[in-house]
Amino acid sequence: MTSNKTLLVTNALPYANGPIHLGHMLEHIQSDIFVRFNRAIGNKVFYVCGDDCHGTPVMIKAAQLGITPEQMIEITSNDHDEDLKGFLVEYDNYYRTHSKENEEISSYMYNKAYENGYIKTKTISQLYDPEKNMFLPDRFVKGTCPKCHAKDQYGDNCEVCGATYSPTELEDAYSVVSGAKPVLKDSLHYFFDLPKANEFLHDYIRNSGAIPAEMANKLEEWFEQGLKPWDISRDAPYFGFKIPGTEDKYFYVWMDAPMGYFASLKNLCDKQNIDYEQFVREDSTIEMDHFIGKDILYFHSLFWPATLKAASLRLPTNIFVHGYVTVNGAKMSKSKGTFIKAKTFLKYLKPETLRYYFASKMNSSAVDIDLSLDDFMAKVNSDIVGKVVNLASRTASFITKRFDGMLSNEPFNQEILDKAASIKDEVIKNFEQRNYAEAIRTIMSFADEANRYIDAEAPWVIAKQEGMEDKLQKVCSDGINLFKALITYLQPILPNVAKDAEEFLNCKLDFNEAGKALVNHKVNKFKPLFSRIEKTAIDAMIENSKEDLKEAQAQAKPTKTESKESEIEPLADEITIDDFAKIDLRVGTIIEAKEVKEAKKLLQLTVDIGFAKRNVFAGIKQAYTDPAALVGRKVVLVANLKPRQMKFGLSEGMVTAAGPGATEVFLLSVDEGAKNGDRIH
Ligand code: 2FM
Ligand code: ZN
Repeated sequence: MTSNKTLLVTNALPYANGPIHLGHMLEHIQSDIFVRFNRAIGNKVFYVCGDDCHGTPVMIKAAQLGITPEQMIEITSNDHDEDLKGFLVEYDNYYRTHSKENEEISSYMYNKAYENGYIKTKTISQLYDPEKNMFLPDRFVKGTCPKCHAKDQYGDNCEVCGATYSPTELEDAYSVVSGAKPVLKDSLHYFFDLPKANEFLHDYIRNSGAIPAEMANKLEEWFEQGLKPWDISRDAPYFGFKIPGTEDKYFYVWMDAPMGYFASLKNLCDKQNIDYEQFVREDSTIEMDHFIGKDILYFHSLFWPATLKAASLRLPTNIFVHGYVTVNGAKMSKSKGTFIKAKTFLKYLKPETLRYYFASKMNSSAVDIDLSLDDFMAKVNSDIVGKVVNLASRTASFITKRFDGMLSNEPFNQEILDKAASIKDEVIKNFEQRNYAEAIRTIMSFADEANRYIDAEAPWVIAKQEGMEDKLQKVCSDGINLFKALITYLQPILPNVAKDAEEFLNCKLDFNEAGKALVNHKVNKFKPLFSRIEKTAIDAMIENSKEDLKEAQAQAKPTKTESKESEIEPLADEITIDDFAKIDLRVGTIIEAKEVKEAKKLLQLTVDIGFAKRNVFAGIKQAYTDPAALVGRKVVLVANLKPRQMKFGLSEGMVTAAGPGATEVFLLSVDEGAKNGDRIH
């Protein structure tokens, strides 16, 4: 029996400021298996994702890299897309929140919320970086913990004693962006009135069936504490969308992130001429399932439904929540090499090894999933290679060599083939409930039975016996048909192996007919479908992950060859304002300029800095071929640079200039009004 529902399935949108790692992959793999399974049983699925582009961390990371946020998004989004495809995660659309569709959708939802009385304003006082002229999110303030006095703790909680506090309580607070001491500053903020949605949300969480019961119980605590208005605005500078009707206020990143699901869908619908409204209107009957991690449940079960409701749009059908990934029983650690990037994994191991292992541990609960590397190797080798592929590899060669690839016209053991068909309902039920672990247990327990059957019949023994051709062909055909059933059931988890199996079996795999035996059917020559994981590959991956860390620390920027953006000179190590204050920059006027004949690059300048006249040799000759033209020009001089004795005389400072060198050198100027000797701050 085939199913014919339509589903919209989403995966949490990865932030655009870092690479995809195995922590992300748990969810992408979980949702991709769900989608492939649903399609396999006949459902129509729209599967979308994209990058979550806005917010302070993205803005600051881009600044650190010396590129614009837009440039960073372009690089990261392509990179993410490539990594996900590498893991055989096949989105119908991988888009981004920084898009015209998303601006339209977020603004539409905001305007609706506004019309319906959900938006309030209030002036609040917040920490502000007086050097960078920006408000500081909690994570961008550090200082000494007010409870245990540990140094360098974040503005919202202490990683040493676990205390939570407000950033204003930190001692010796400093801005992570500039090192400056933050000050308190008032600003008008926009709030979404969550308490107004209290009744609706409580009912939705309790009674809609969208939230798993264990989670709904947890959410009860939030209602007991009372919902608070949600601050949805941020002040400039902020990388995001401007709030409609304001001059300088931006949507907080979470006010356009889940809307990004719709933006990705809209972009897909527009490209494929599909009616987008049918998915989002209030009475839509299309199932909408969100896969998320437990850390973002608050956003998805409160803010997102509340903003949808306020805009009279449909609500999520299901919010599927998973736990975190640990490696070898501990949090992923960069120094131990267990913070493994998707790319690094794929350099050494096949994507399906991870898909299979994660699936073998996944169910519908939000418990954490451990990637125990020894167990990972043992399980993949034993199950995929030892039990599934082996079934075909032990029997296929006889069919090829002795029967020219033809399978028998009937099975030898009908009973075991019936059994292969009979586990289908159980497998479907488990996939439907996202209990992949149980689906795999069912499939593998049958694989054991199938292997016992082949062991007992021992075709390699029959093959040596006279007059046993018929039995040999039937038993080997059974082996191949059992393999076909197993790989069909595993197809949502192992799509590439399944594709190669189709090539070998010379037929399309059909989930609904997994147990149906091929008879009188010609198969192709068997090629190895999967190779064992070697311990050396895992060790190399861990070592490489440690290297990744060193690289990230050393450069924190794209490599030269990656793109033209990366030709930008790498940003120097961060300095504090105190470091900067050591450099005494003064306004000066060039009162004399002449060529140094013997030097290819130098001009000799006399710079008047008010209280002194400085002799400076500047490497600007190729760029300024007419020295006389420089006389009278105001420049910026590094005035406290240690004088340097050169072949042509003493150089007493440095005129500042930009550009890569040679003919491309551009002296810095100052605006009218600055006087010789003025200090630059
Ligand atoms: O937690 C995160 O990684 C967010 N970028 C997830 C956003 S999911 C959706 F709402 F966009
Ligand atoms: Zn503390």
